[in-house]
Amino acid sequence: MKSWDELYAACMACRKCPLAETRHNVVFGEGARDAEVMFIGEGPGEQEDLTGRPFVGRAGKLLDDMLEMIDLKREKVFIGNMVKCRPPENRDPLPAEQEACMDYLRAQVALIQPRIIVCLGRVSALKLIRPDFKITQDHGQWVEKAGVQMMALYHPAALLRDPRKRPETFVDLKSLQAKIREICTHTY
Ligand code: URA
Repeated sequence: MKSWDELYAACMACRKCPLAETRHNVVFGEGARDAEVMFIGEGPGEQEDLTGRPFVGRAGKLLDDMLEMIDLKREKVFIGNMVKCRPPENRDPLPAEQEACMDYLRAQVALIQPRIIVCLGRVSALKLIRPDFKITQDHGQWVEKAGVQMMALYHPAALLRDPRKRPETFVDLKSLQAKIREICTHTY
């Protein structure tokens, strides 16, 4: 298995899919290497591509607020994406692009060994939880896969577009907080 530094170097040099041609920066993800909770979004947007950091644009600010609501610090969790390079015009990452990037995410999960994975939005939930995942119906529901508790929240960008979804997300966040209290051991 690659070390964290080897994995980081491999991602930085990656040219496995055409997103490498148009990216400014690879967005490796950031947070604690021993995080008990991982958040996985779709892929970098414009600000993320320009800075090399995940969730730093408008959706990222809302994610920060969501974390704060349940007393989670960004540096204590890990925040990453299905694909590490920006899809042009913020389109959904194509299946082939997700497949090309998947080994990197698998390696990150293997190194971090989280107790909980939270999918941000339908793209990561479809890939990581179930191929027939319906975000409107299945958000907030817990499933266990290979000993890891998994659930999906609405993507923060979806909450910006449609604030009526926020009350349901608050309930899901409370459920996440309860799950952390139940199975996690770090102090938050
Ligand atoms: N949206 C995502 O899915 N990921 C980011 O890093 C930023 C916006």
